[in-house]
Amino acid sequence: MALNLVMLGPPGAGKGTQAERFAREHGIPKVSTGDILREAVHSGTELGRQVSTLMERGELVGDDLIIGIVRERLARPDAIAGFVLDGFPRTAAQADALDAMMGERGPVICVEIQVPDEELIRRVRARRVCEDCGANADAFVHQVDALPDLCQNTERCRSIGPKWVARSDDSAAVVRERLKVYWRDTQPMIEYYSSRPTFRSIDGLQTPEQVREAL
Ligand code: AP5
Repeated sequence: MALNLVMLGPPGAGKGTQAERFAREHGIPKVSTGDILREAVHSGTELGRQVSTLMERGELVGDDLIIGIVRERLARPDAIAGFVLDGFPRTAAQADALDAMMGERGPVICVEIQVPDEELIRRVRARRVCEDCGANADAFVHQVDALPDLCQNTERCRSIGPKWVARSDDSAAVVRERLKVYWRDTQPMIEYYSSRPTFRSIDGLQTPEQVREAL
């Protein structure tokens, strides 16, 4: 049976961190809507131009647009045996669309990572990402002089070294907006999933390794 996992949780909960590892360990693709949109912005595509202002404000992009992107991605052959969704669904309309996409593909397992707001803000404000490939680092956990070794993903990272930058939506004001949007639009959708037998919550205040074990 296909392994269809949906990672749920607020900004900075650790969805991307866990999704990346889980997908690698299980040989299934990680489908991160945030990564897909950031790549489009970075490459200056038409999609990127459409979404960049909304993302910089911490608002959600339109349901129809994001549902179309996910539908196309999950239809590719590498997602037939399963996938890890990171950042989708985020609204009731997206959750309904995902159910409709699943058809005969087996159940969706939904895992919510719970972290209090103060820790979310600390994590997001400390986050640095590699400008070239998007790899993550935590400026509090990692010594600044160790950061060059944390990303070796692309030729540029290996030869010149990664350039660590803050994500443009990780400023204090935008993080507050993202949390507001999360509690308004996404949390009610999680309550809807929570009545399903395939739903679990994990304490995201644990170390990444402990969260992985729980997952
Ligand atoms: P997206 O990229 O999905 O951002 P997000 O949901 O706000 O989540 P983050 O990436 O900030 O956090 P995360 O939970 O993945 O945590 P991470 O593992 O990185 O979306 C960005 C924007 O795109 C949205 O605002 C919206 O505009 C648009 N968008 C995307 N999807 C959309 C959709 N479906 N509909 C509409 N619009 C959409 O970890 C965070 C930090 O904490 C890292 O530094 C990490 O190293 C550290 N960390 C992780 N785990 C731990 C731990 N256990 N302990 C300590 N530190 C930890």
